[in-house]
Order: sequence, then structure tokens, then C-alpha cells
Amino acid sequence: MGKTRIIAETGAGQHGVATATVCALMNMECIVYMGKTDVERQHINVEKMKMLGATVIPVTSGNMTLKDATNEAIRDWCCHPADTYYIIGSTVGPHPYPDMVARLQSVISEEIKKQLAEKEGRDYPDYLIACVGGGSNAAGTIYHYLDDERVRIVLAEAGGKGVETGQTAATIQLGKMGIIHGARTFVIQDEDGQIEEPYSISAGLDYPGIGPIHANLASQHRATVLAVNDDEAIEAAYELTKLEGIIPALESAHALGALKKLKFNPEDVVVLTVSGRGDKDIETYLKFTI
Ligand SMILES: Cc1ncc(COP(=O)(O)O)c(C=O)c1O
Repeated sequence: MGKTRIIAETGAGQHGVATATVCALMNMECIVYMGKTDVERQHINVEKMKMLGATVIPVTSGNMTLKDATNEAIRDWCCHPADTYYIIGSTVGPHPYPDMVARLQSVISEEIKKQLAEKEGRDYPDYLIACVGGGSNAAGTIYHYLDDERVRIVLAEAGGKGVETGQTAATIQLGKMGIIHGARTFVIQDEDGQIEEPYSISAGLDYPGIGPIHANLASQHRATVLAVNDDEAIEAAYELTKLEGIIPALESAHALGALKKLKFNPEDVVVLTVSGRGDKDIETYLKFTI
């Protein structure tokens, strides 16, 4: 495409690190927008991005999280259309981004199919569970099963301090149809259509919109959406760590927190995507004693 400059937004920093990595490999300029709140709570990923040669720009508008970083990235993109390519970190933004990101992430469900066929003798599970911020790891998890009605889809969004508290990012439960970052989808907004500040303990789920694909799946009741609160996610993260020796990312911990809200049969095959590792979240985890 002849572009020489790469920009990205990031919440938890995972997408920023991925983008910085590819830019280091290709020797391209890399600029990552990240809310100042997230720069502080996910500073390990900030150090990784800097080490990889990226410039991290802390964003100080709004509540200084993912929405605000995305605003700034889109502003930059609009101002530099000739030389800049914007790598979006989730199934959000204007078309064709949500579709493109979902297709790229679909390697996850391709892998699920392969591994289930090998390990369970059938290539579909009874349940697929994933957390949703913008929706990319969930989209990848469900992509090849969308039309397979045998598979129940469960999406875990961030309840924050509770869906009723006003400090939440439970977009599918609370959102109304609106426009955010170029997509028509559910948005947490006030009566005048002003986007409200979301809240979640996890930087990656702290977004007042949701991918249009997921909004559609929820409207059609193809997906069950559960809000998992901060404390439920923390408890689930500690449980996975103790039982399996896997420290999950705070975002993934929300998917794990959904397990207790569901009723399974002993023979059910349940696949849950652990979207990231929890090294970046150790400081947050250590603030809680379980
Ligand atoms: C580890 C991890 N999981 C999940 C998410 C949420 O994003 P998405 O809903 O696009 O998968 C993030 C976002 O930063 C993340 O870092």
C-alpha cells in the first residue's frame, strides 16, 4: 500500500506490543496511542513497546482509557491519510475493520476445531466462552461455529463494580444503538446520545462500545451475554492460578468468571479462550488477597 508509518491504539497494551513487534521486524515507524490511566496500570507493556522502538503517546482526554486512545488514533489517521496505516486492535471501527479483524482472529476457532477433533473425537464443543472488550478474541473463538446451532456461545463483558452502579463497561446489557468510532452498534450513552465513560478493572474491556458483530449476535439471541464484575474476575483468576498454574490476563479472567454463572452437564465440552497471560496484571492482582 506504500504506507511508511504505522499507528495503533491500545488498552491493555497487548495490541500495542503486537504492533510494535511487527514494526520492529519490518523496520517501520510505530506510534501507539494509549490512555494515560492505562499507561500507568499496564506499564510493563509500555516498557515492552518502547524497547521494541515504538513511540507511546499517553492520551489525557476523557477518562484516559481505550475509547480516548481510539479517538486520538482516528484523529491521527484522518490527518495523515497518505502515508499512515492504522492497525485497529479489535473488531471495532469503520467497515471493513470489524470483518477484517474477525477473519484474521478466526485462526483461533480453526485451531479449536483441529484440537477438538483430535482430543474429543468431534470438532465442535457444547459451549464456547470468551471475554469481550471490542470483541476480537471472542470473534476469533466463535468464527467457524457461528452457524452451528449445537454450539452455545457465551460472551463475558465487564460488569465493573456492578451493572447498576454506573461504574461498568457492560455495553451489551446497558448500551443503546448508536455510533462509535465509525460503527453502528450498542453504545453506553446518555439520553442526549453522549457516550458515557466506561469503567472496568481491566484495561482491555474498558470500552463503551462493542463490535457490531457481537451486538448483532446478542440481538438475535445467538449469544448469551453475561456481565462479570471486577471481584468475580479476580476470584476466578486466583482459582485458575491455583488449579492449573496458569495466571490469566485480567480480561480473560472475566471469561473464567462466567463459568460460575452457567449450569453444565458433566459430559459437556466447554472451550474457554484465555486471551492473554497475566504478567501485565500482577500488580493489580496483588492488591487483592484471596
Ligand atoms: C488479554 C486481552 N484479552 C482481551 C482483550 C479484549 O479485547 P477483545 O475484546 O478485542 O478481544 C484485551 C484487550 O486489550 C486483552 O489485552
